[in-house]
Amino acid sequence: MSGGSTAVPAAGGARVAAALIEWHVRSGRHDLPWQRNRTPYRVWVSEIMLQQTQVATVIPYFERFTGRFPEVRALADAPLDEVLHLWSGLGYYARARNLHRAAARICAEHDGRFPEHFDAVAALPGIGRSTAGAILALSLNQRHPILDGNVRRVLARYFAVDGDPADPAIARRLWALSDACTPDRHLDVYTQAVMDLGATLCTRRNPACARCPLTETCLARRTDRQHQLPTPKQRQERPLRQVFMLAARRADGAVWLERRPERGIWGGLWCLPQFDRPADAADYLERMLGERAPARPLAAIEHAFTHFDLVITPLLAHCASPVGAPDPAQHAWYQAVAPDARGLPAPIQRFLQRLGSARIQSQLFD
Ligand code: ADE
Repeated sequence: MSGGSTAVPAAGGARVAAALIEWHVRSGRHDLPWQRNRTPYRVWVSEIMLQQTQVATVIPYFERFTGRFPEVRALADAPLDEVLHLWSGLGYYARARNLHRAAARICAEHDGRFPEHFDAVAALPGIGRSTAGAILALSLNQRHPILDGNVRRVLARYFAVDGDPADPAIARRLWALSDACTPDRHLDVYTQAVMDLGATLCTRRNPACARCPLTETCLARRTDRQHQLPTPKQRQERPLRQVFMLAARRADGAVWLERRPERGIWGGLWCLPQFDRPADAADYLERMLGERAPARPLAAIEHAFTHFDLVITPLLAHCASPVGAPDPAQHAWYQAVAPDARGLPAPIQRFLQRLGSARIQSQLFD
């Protein structure tokens, strides 16, 4: 079946839902933390954390986050830094900033209660059509089709939909198929089941077709095309970006951090000051910290973002003079051994911990 061809027979959709619900009741995951006390707020937090992140990684973050912010108002009232701190290591920090902004909106516009109407949910920052549907289906058993990456893969394979799912015509087709498969009852079980199928069996590589509840009627399986569907995006060159970061370190081990601008990578997080050229780092060191000592390059830190690779060369400099932080909202002396509650990108936090460890220090300061 091609992207724009005829509608799915209704029986196809009903059969998918029945098989998935039966499979999930029999062998699905039922003890995840967000499946207990399934309020829209808790499901919202879990769905945002689960975007681009595995269940096993999310669990401890979810427990800590909802322990500290048990309901919308607690999240809205918290400083953004604390929210980012609890998110540190999960990546894609725009998700955390949007959660925080959305919590403020819910307090202002919905009296602190998570909205229960689709349009109001989908209007919140960071919540698209699929996530809005998933939150309301999982927490309130409402009927909404969903189409996240996992579900897209399941449907593209089951109905053998050719073409890039990002193409609007293909996307429309997949939404229609998702709608046709969404049942009228047991929306919570069905929605979790179809997402779990994509996350656990109908995986991108090595799908476990032998254990799949849809294997008999899956068109990709029947035509042995499960490895070709969904149609992969055109491969693009991944650009490489090279930057320098100044690690200005005081004798007591504290390192100078800057808050990054809200827009761009690691927006709003605390980080080492970043430069395109070492000479710019030297100027900054003198201007901000009154130091003229040469900075010493350390081993590069590599980090892969979705659309590019970043290579950071840290430049280590010793700061003798006791300069304070001129604007505490923008600059801070940070002790990696006794960190305060502020959000740092995970690779930078790891670097600072290594920098603070005795073993590395002896290598660095011999
Ligand atoms: N990915 C996004 N939401 C999910 C969920 N609820 N279960 C499993 N994987 C997911």
